[in-house]
Amino acid sequence: MDRRTFLFSFGMLSFGISMPFKTIASSKTLVVYFSKTGEQYGVGVISKGNTAIVAEIIAQKTGADLCEITVENDTYPTQYKPLCDVAKIELNNKARPAYNKTVADISGYDVIFIGAPVWWGDWPMVMYTFFEHENLAGKTLIPFSTHAGSGLSGFDKKLATANPKSKVAAGLAITGTDAQNNSSRVSGAVDVWLKKLAEQGIAF
Ligand SMILES: Cc1cc2nc3c(=O)[nH]c(=O)nc-3n(C[C@H](O)[C@H](O)[C@H](O)COP(=O)(O)O)c2cc1C
Repeated sequence: MDRRTFLFSFGMLSFGISMPFKTIASSKTLVVYFSKTGEQYGVGVISKGNTAIVAEIIAQKTGADLCEITVENDTYPTQYKPLCDVAKIELNNKARPAYNKTVADISGYDVIFIGAPVWWGDWPMVMYTFFEHENLAGKTLIPFSTHAGSGLSGFDKKLATANPKSKVAAGLAITGTDAQNNSSRVSGAVDVWLKKLAEQGIAF
């Protein structure tokens, strides 16, 4: 009996004897993120990336493991405008930069939060390399962004298109300035979001 069948059978058994039935109460949850330090929009030179901060808050609140995506042989400029120029070229070329990740095997995770900064209205190209290389079929994917005004920027729809065999849940957008300077606002927004996800049966 595989794990899902076991959990389902156990749930039905529990239901039969009037215990609460939680479909994915035992899900293994991961927070995957890509984030840059250096000079970023509206926050000066930062030593922890905006998305990294939000990722850590989500992981802390859900008990999830954290997995950072980094670009292999990272030669990105540390100044904002030159970084924008390089990222624009990557976008125009549909580049697929190679990546490293801090959790080697993500196959055992059922629910995966996936976050990144909005770059030119899109996921950074390295995230598409990630989507194309990992087998995310059957998993619940929950996008989040940090941004300077564009919000979620279609991260949810783009994630669903790139991963047609996954379930994509409602995402969260946090401004980079809040991530860096207003942890209580971020904490409150994450709480509201997690509550809504829980109401949709996505529990951690
Ligand atoms: C290359 C690049 C492109 C960006 N494009 C956008 C954009 O299209 N819309 C937006 O709201 N913010 C944009 N930003 C701002 C970042 O999304 C924002 O500062 C983010 O919080 C940075 O997160 P990080 O520190 O995790 O990398 C861009 C920043 C960079 C470096």
